[in-house]
Amino acid sequence: MGIPEIELIDGNSIPSIGLGLWKVKDKQQFRVMFEAAYQAGYRHFDDAEAYANEQLLGLGWKNLGLKRESLFITTKSLALHFNYKSTIDSFEESLKKLQTDHVDLLLVHFPGPTWLRRDKWRAIEDIKKAGKARSIGVSNYYVKHLNQLESYANEMPVVNQIEMHVFRQQLEIRQYCQKNNIQIEAYSPIAHAQIMDNPVIKQLADKYQKTYSQIMLRWCIDQQAIPLPKSVTPSRIQENIDIFDFKLDDKDLERLKALDINHKSLWRSSLSG
Ligand SMILES: NC(=O)c1ccc[n+]([C@@H]2O[C@H](COP(=O)([O-])OP(=O)(O)OC[C@H]3O[C@@H](n4cnc5c(N)ncnc54)[C@H](OP(=O)(O)O)[C@@H]3O)[C@@H](O)[C@H]2O)c1
Repeated sequence: MGIPEIELIDGNSIPSIGLGLWKVKDKQQFRVMFEAAYQAGYRHFDDAEAYANEQLLGLGWKNLGLKRESLFITTKSLALHFNYKSTIDSFEESLKKLQTDHVDLLLVHFPGPTWLRRDKWRAIEDIKKAGKARSIGVSNYYVKHLNQLESYANEMPVVNQIEMHVFRQQLEIRQYCQKNNIQIEAYSPIAHAQIMDNPVIKQLADKYQKTYSQIMLRWCIDQQAIPLPKSVTPSRIQENIDIFDFKLDDKDLERLKALDINHKSLWRSSLSG
């Protein structure tokens, strides 16, 4: 079965699940992961300049002889490029490493310092105008950042990638994004595998005959968010995408709603300025 796609407000389509690539730097491990993911049906790959593995993704898809159009590649630009030019130059480096002339989605990785944001966004808009990024967006942006961006953007982001999982549901920013047609992508959708013993999730896994992680990932889908699970383990890569043959019912979604403890699986303090 093909993976359902979601239409973004700019008219482009995005696969409704993606493979997270953070921390996978070993060449052999990357190759095994990428091949397992492609076999399992993943077409959407979530990369970033900061992950230092764009080159491995470029090698991965080229070595399999895949058609570029069959893939959805995201990369993220570091927040700390100090001006317009360094954002453009570093993006050109990303393209070279990824062995492509465009990405499907380019995100600003973090809001970064306030005084750098306007120039950075102008560079991102210009990259899109040049056809080198099909869609543009942000990551780790909260309402205050998006409000500020609105004051100078010619074009608003179509995606916001944030930490989102059952234990950190992010209602405020999700409501804002929904109202403003910004698609949410959920990073760390299984909370970095830090809480794998919740009794409610275990019960639902039994009820739906699915695994614990599949319940967490399906919850993202049922919230209209795009989960980006990371795994280097082929069996888990397969497991994590096998979530399109069931749906959590309203009563169970209510039970999961009660699990929100704003658990920050990664960043304990704001890096956002
Ligand atoms: N924009 C941002 O600032 C930002 C920040 C963080 C993450 N991200 C993106 O989101 C992706 C995912 O986030 P994440 O890596 O933080 O967390 P995650 O996907 O929630 O968790 C990854 C961890 O869960 C394990 N795992 C995966 N599938 C599993 C399963 N079915 N059962 C049990 N354990 C499983 C993985 O182990 P194995 O790999 O050993 O299988 C790994 O240790 C990243 O790779 C990156 O693309 C973006």
